[in-house]
Amino acid sequence: MNSREQNERAFLRYAEQYDAKNVLIFHKIKHTLRVADLSARYAEAIGLPGEDAACAWFYGLLHDIGRFEQARRYGTFVDSQSVDHAELGADLLFGDGLIGQFSAEDLPADCLAMAEPVIRLHNKLSLPETLDERTRRFAEILRDADKTDIFRVVASIPFEDRIGSSRASFAETGEASAEVMACVAEHRCVPRAIRHSRFEGHISHCCMAFELVFEISRRTVKEEGWLRLLLAETDPAGHPIWSEGEAEQLRTVRTEIEKAWGVTL
Ligand SMILES: [Fe+2]
Repeated sequence: MNSREQNERAFLRYAEQYDAKNVLIFHKIKHTLRVADLSARYAEAIGLPGEDAACAWFYGLLHDIGRFEQARRYGTFVDSQSVDHAELGADLLFGDGLIGQFSAEDLPADCLAMAEPVIRLHNKLSLPETLDERTRRFAEILRDADKTDIFRVVASIPFEDRIGSSRASFAETGEASAEVMACVAEHRCVPRAIRHSRFEGHISHCCMAFELVFEISRRTVKEEGWLRLLLAETDPAGHPIWSEGEAEQLRTVRTEIEKAWGVTL
């Protein structure tokens, strides 16, 4: 058995200690395995050697390991209402020794040393300037792979099933603020602190598209079609999802993403 199979088994063994019937846990296992596969694909597509692609896969496998304890302790995946899941995961792995359950046998010699920063940084708004070039490259691969699958998760899984808390904490309606739309115009992610409504949350998910680093990531997101679904103004039955004002703002988001990417979605 190579280290990839060993590590996938170790991950599933770890995850199975948590309630697999819990829909939050179920979706997180699927998300993790998809992010691991996407990470390896992206690493190969940008020309990294096979052992680096294996290292990227390993980071994908471990990146959300903190989600299981987060769900057990708090019953939610909303970091702002509980804990920063990336920090929790890195603390469990490198503080409590959870990393010892995984094998780095056929991975590059520096793979374990980069794992901690790459995992801690996977959910941050941006990467620090001080990061060395090789660690940055792996962090970018993981962040692109994570965002790619988040489009699927957001577009295909009901809110409560992927987040675990009720919608009640978000204002149900209302157009996005000028501050949020300024992020759209500047082609950047929307900081958590300025998202106040369900619609602003929706826009901020779409804005992750601006932060994709690699062409292969943009191409994959376009091919998978989940972002197009998020930008839709009507549901599959043709009924409007948003108010007229919201729909117009969503059209702006779509236009700006198309401008940034230089493609039609
Ligand atoms: Fe995450």
